[in-house]
Amino acid sequence: MSSLKSEKVAEMYDATGEIGLYLISDNQLHFGYWDENNRDANVGEGAERLTQMMIDKSEILQGERFCDLGCGVGVPAMRIAKAKGCFVDGITISKYQCNKGKDLAEEAGMSDQVRFIQGNALEIPCDDAIYDGGWFFESIFYMGHSEALREAYRILKPGATLLIADLITRPNTTEEFKKFAKEELDSDHIPKEDYPGLLDEAGFDLIEIDDITEFVMPFMFSRLKAGFKQHEAEVLQYVKSEEINGWLQVFENVCDNLGYILVKAKKRVRS
Ligand SMILES: C[S@@+](CC[C@H](N)C(=O)[O-])C[C@H]1O[C@@H](n2cnc3c(N)ncnc32)[C@H](O)[C@@H]1O
Repeated sequence: MSSLKSEKVAEMYDATGEIGLYLISDNQLHFGYWDENNRDANVGEGAERLTQMMIDKSEILQGERFCDLGCGVGVPAMRIAKAKGCFVDGITISKYQCNKGKDLAEEAGMSDQVRFIQGNALEIPCDDAIYDGGWFFESIFYMGHSEALREAYRILKPGATLLIADLITRPNTTEEFKKFAKEELDSDHIPKEDYPGLLDEAGFDLIEIDDITEFVMPFMFSRLKAGFKQHEAEVLQYVKSEEINGWLQVFENVCDNLGYILVKAKKRVRS
């Protein structure tokens, strides 16, 4: 990942605060999960459900150290810290997110348990093998899969669990969309079939790949649209309605073209 690219991603996330995405998603900057148990859930509730699913897959224990690689404003980090009693370091390339994360953790009385680093998750300022677990929660496609897995391998202890929530290409993903994602969203998406090889090469044993596309993509756009409508008055204080429509179009395009997987892997213990 070039420094120009990381600057562009940082700029995008510094600016989206004003578009109201944080407000609509209850500060969980990822897609949601919907099934018969929560059909009517809004974006924030759907996103919360997905966070809970990630927490359930995690094997982190009380008192252990967890790293959130691409942490947004740290709501998922605070959720796992609370659920598991672990310590979490969240790293984000965005200054806005880092500051907001610190404020939210302080408000929640969790500043000692959840800490934030503004920086590049490909060059984490820490020693090797210090974390007992970690996740890329909708962030790895910005970083480049191989490079990101290499750095995760460096910072995790042998046997540690790594979770990845990723937006993947599908057989129907158009070439036009891939180009748009690369050039306009600074993201690079891969098919799920690439995961076993990538993980193996980086020194991880694949435990499972859960394809949840059908519970995510058909619902996200309509819930997001409803969210913007509901919060229209607040959001319009910061941005013009054309900008909101632009963002909605992007999401519609993403939902039509990409799938969603949850990956669980373990750092191999070398003998
Ligand atoms: C879609 S958001 C997900 C945020 C968070 N995981 C969540 O679920 O709320 C993507 C995140 O990846 C972060 N990110 C992207 N590239 C990064 C990099 N090279 N280093 C650190 N963070 C990065 C962005 O700053 C943002 O926080």
